[in-house]
Amino acid sequence: MIIAIDGPAAAGKGTLARRLADEFGFAYLDTGGLYRAVGLSVLRSGGNPADAGAAEVASANLDLALLDDPALRAEETGNAASKVAVLPIVRSNLLDFQRNFASNPPGDATGAVLDGRDIGTVVCPDADLKLFVTASAEVRAKRRYRELEERGLEPEFHVILTDVRERDERDMNRKDAPLRPAEDALLLDTSNLDIDAVFLRAAALVNEHRSPQ
Ligand code: CDP
Repeated sequence: MIIAIDGPAAAGKGTLARRLADEFGFAYLDTGGLYRAVGLSVLRSGGNPADAGAAEVASANLDLALLDDPALRAEETGNAASKVAVLPIVRSNLLDFQRNFASNPPGDATGAVLDGRDIGTVVCPDADLKLFVTASAEVRAKRRYRELEERGLEPEFHVILTDVRERDERDMNRKDAPLRPAEDALLLDTSNLDIDAVFLRAAALVNEHRSPQ
């Protein structure tokens, strides 16, 4: 079974995807991590993430060790990720890795959960279940703020909110694979739901969409 979870920055896709994968014994791929790794690699080499040349090289030789780098989760890396993600060559360089993961999940997993921006529309258009997880920009910025605080950082709320809005704008308006719900995606607005409530709803949907075993 393939589950596609898409939505804007800090909507809670990652937490939901991880819990679903645990619950059903599926493998989980955070596709945003791949774009973050490309962005981080460009930043580390002193390049500009909006520069197609540097991002092309980084995405063609993806350094998977960067997925475990503490700097992967920094706001600056998220911003760089959304800049490299605009480039069609970067997206196509990352496509095979994502599709392979979905059709041949590692270990003995009987399914895969992928989260990102274009999983239901581009990466896995035939996914068995597509969820589009969203929440208001303010709620998402609050969640990101708390997440950064818990990591011992001292974030500024207005900076986070501006960042979330800028990223939404860039992700929704790019030409290649813009952020939007697939036509057959189910919408989950989590503005007024905590993670347990979101998880219970999503898990019920997985059970409904599972082929009988
Ligand atoms: O964790 P957060 O929601 O902040 O972002 P992320 O999922 O780590 O993704 C970082 C950036 O990568 C996004 O802002 C997108 O621009 C890009 N991305 C994408 O274009 N396509 C995907 N499938 C996943 C991420």
